[in-house]
Amino acid sequence: MSAILLNGKACAEMLAEEQRARCDALKARGIIPQLAVIMVGEDPASAVYVRNKERACQRLGIASRMIHLPETASQQELNAQIDALNADPAVHGILVQLPLPGHLNESEALLRVSALKDVDGFHTLNAGRLAQGAPGMLPCTPKGILYLLRQAGVALDGAHAVVLGRSNIVGKPVSLLLLRENCTVTICHSHTRDLPAITRQADILVAAIGKPRFVTADMVKPGAAVIDVGINRVDGKLCGDVDFEGVEQVAGWITPVPGGVGPMTVAMLMENTLEAACRA
Ligand code: GUN
Repeated sequence: MSAILLNGKACAEMLAEEQRARCDALKARGIIPQLAVIMVGEDPASAVYVRNKERACQRLGIASRMIHLPETASQQELNAQIDALNADPAVHGILVQLPLPGHLNESEALLRVSALKDVDGFHTLNAGRLAQGAPGMLPCTPKGILYLLRQAGVALDGAHAVVLGRSNIVGKPVSLLLLRENCTVTICHSHTRDLPAITRQADILVAAIGKPRFVTADMVKPGAAVIDVGINRVDGKLCGDVDFEGVEQVAGWITPVPGGVGPMTVAMLMENTLEAACRA
């Protein structure tokens, strides 16, 4: 058996047509959607992600403002930039690219972003709304994963979803979103005992642990939907947290790396920016 490919790149491109039309409609009403991205320092992976976000904005006609602070920027300087963007009515979405250099306080920065402009969905208020099932800005990667699963017609109600990883960016919020869809959710992490016995029960398996090709075919239930959030570089080549070649023989659906979850994360950032502009 060979799994159906969950093609995030194609899905994001389809969505882009609709988003472009929504962007044009906002412009016709005199609203130019604008996303501001703050990057501190020179992390090469972050530079690639930020460039991808900027390109996605350009493709849709969303205005993008890139603010690049030096590695040595102080918390006060970062806070002042966030305050200025919060106060600027032309800016609808603000994203602080992570990770920040070690001397800066990440949670202080994320809390400082206005919850209304928090297109990453990382503000405590939005995270709390998600936890309580209230409407709010959803984090982009989890939202993109749900979009892909729904698009492919993967049955969610009553399914056993196993999530590998408990980060605030992916593991916890995707678990909450799957729970909202009536999945039975198990969250696994580095202290979990007999992990393969749990992953083999998964109808939906989400891998977000940052370990190259960690999920192997013997850990996957035949027919499962396998979502690979990992972006790892091995010998200069990108690979996910899933051993794609082995797992695609067993799974029912699988996301590739690259071209799976990554493009959907950017697509959902555009979606959140348009939603924020629409509300403004
Ligand atoms: N760094 C890696 N992924 C992300 C993301 O989704 N948002 C932000 N702000 N930083 C990141």
